[in-house]
Amino acid sequence: MSNKKAYLTIDGEDAPIELNIKESTLGQDVIDISPVLGHNYFTYDPGYATTAATESEITYIDGTNGVLLHRGYPIEQLAEHSNYLETCYLLLNGELPTKAESGEFESIIRMHTMVNRSIESFFSGFRYDAHPMAMLCGVVGALSSFYHDSLDINDPQHRMITAHRLIAKMPTLAAMCHKHFIGQPYMYPDNSLSYAENFLHMMFGTPCDRNTEINPVLAKAMDLIFLLHADHEQNASTSTVRLAGSSGANPFSCISAGIAALWGPAHGGANQAVLEMLNQIGDEKNIDEYVKRAKDKDDPFRLMGFGHRVYKNFDPRAKVMKKTCDEVLGELGLENDPLLKIAKRLEQIALEDEYFVEKKLYPNVDFYSGIIMKAIGIPTEMFTAIFATGRTVGWIAQWNEMLSNPYRIGRPRQLYRGYEPRDYPAK
Ligand code: CMC
Repeated sequence: MSNKKAYLTIDGEDAPIELNIKESTLGQDVIDISPVLGHNYFTYDPGYATTAATESEITYIDGTNGVLLHRGYPIEQLAEHSNYLETCYLLLNGELPTKAESGEFESIIRMHTMVNRSIESFFSGFRYDAHPMAMLCGVVGALSSFYHDSLDINDPQHRMITAHRLIAKMPTLAAMCHKHFIGQPYMYPDNSLSYAENFLHMMFGTPCDRNTEINPVLAKAMDLIFLLHADHEQNASTSTVRLAGSSGANPFSCISAGIAALWGPAHGGANQAVLEMLNQIGDEKNIDEYVKRAKDKDDPFRLMGFGHRVYKNFDPRAKVMKKTCDEVLGELGLENDPLLKIAKRLEQIALEDEYFVEKKLYPNVDFYSGIIMKAIGIPTEMFTAIFATGRTVGWIAQWNEMLSNPYRIGRPRQLYRGYEPRDYPAK
């Protein structure tokens, strides 16, 4: 707490309300508005654009300057020197692991990759063409029925085992969603493979051709996609996980709530929406028309993969992803793919167009991740499930942080604009 104060003057009140200012390590300090309640007022902030709902030590974003830090480490450095599992360890534990800790963490995750066989019966209940995110919501929520009575959320060790289980099982479940969708048998995890290789093995392998080699460039790109999605401070899905968790709910069901919040096209669903938009544009000659539509206030069409609530600069994750995108396209000889050409041209136009420049609408992470995943051969409807797989560590690390400190149930207030009291009409 700093000695700085803020004062809120309200018409009709004798004296201004004194508000403490809490100091941050980096970025904006926050005004503690809790005394306002005692004066019979609520504060109003639609979309929580100026509200800090929690203190956190995990992730820092400076949207103006395009900075993203996990536990203080810049995302660009983690992308270059670390890998997904090491970043998971960092997010969960606060420090990078030693070599021995890293090896131990990897083997713990490998130990938990299988899911209970009964999970397969849940999948049998889904229609053949169920969206992977619908299935993922369901089966991750269903995990709470396997780990409930034995799980004490107030025990730090139980919370850590939950985190390990989730990180390990998410690729298995996501790949099962894909296999159900295309009607192929589920693949068991192969624990001799790395995290990303194992995911690609479960996605693309079949019981008939187990020994298909995994291209190391694609495995590296997949690991990077997981890493770049690992956490993003108090976004819609993370806040949902915290809110659900604040009632003391089972963590697997909280993560399922996070998956639901992620699904929408304004959040994690944007990567699927990007590819759908590129298909809709269809030809480079149509780009101008779509850019015009995106700028028209009366047209609901938006350029998917552009803009961000927090970043008013290049999303630092998008910068890294763009580089990998070029590597993957080069490796696969797809530089001249028509859809990818539309994407490149669209990016160029939007970066130069006055409307996008003025509103600081840069390509975001979903723009490039969608293109990479398409190139790897991942079907569009799986994109958001892959985002969810990478983000699970962030959700559970944030949930764990909340439970490790004093917290209250989340309960926003409202500005009521409905009827005044009225009597039920006489019959
Ligand atoms: N295309 C055209 N215009 C846009 C776009 C876009 N993609 N994004 C924002 N704008 C305009 C918007 O119309 C508004 O104009 P005005 O000030 O004249 O009313 C202005 O820019 C500010 O937009 P906003 O909707 O107030 O911004 P927001 O912070 O509420 O929304 C956003 C952020 C990401 C939801 C939005 O930019 C968007 O819908 N983008 C497309 C979807 C997308 O790519 N989402 C993925 C986000 S990154 C992944 C993640 O972290 O979840």
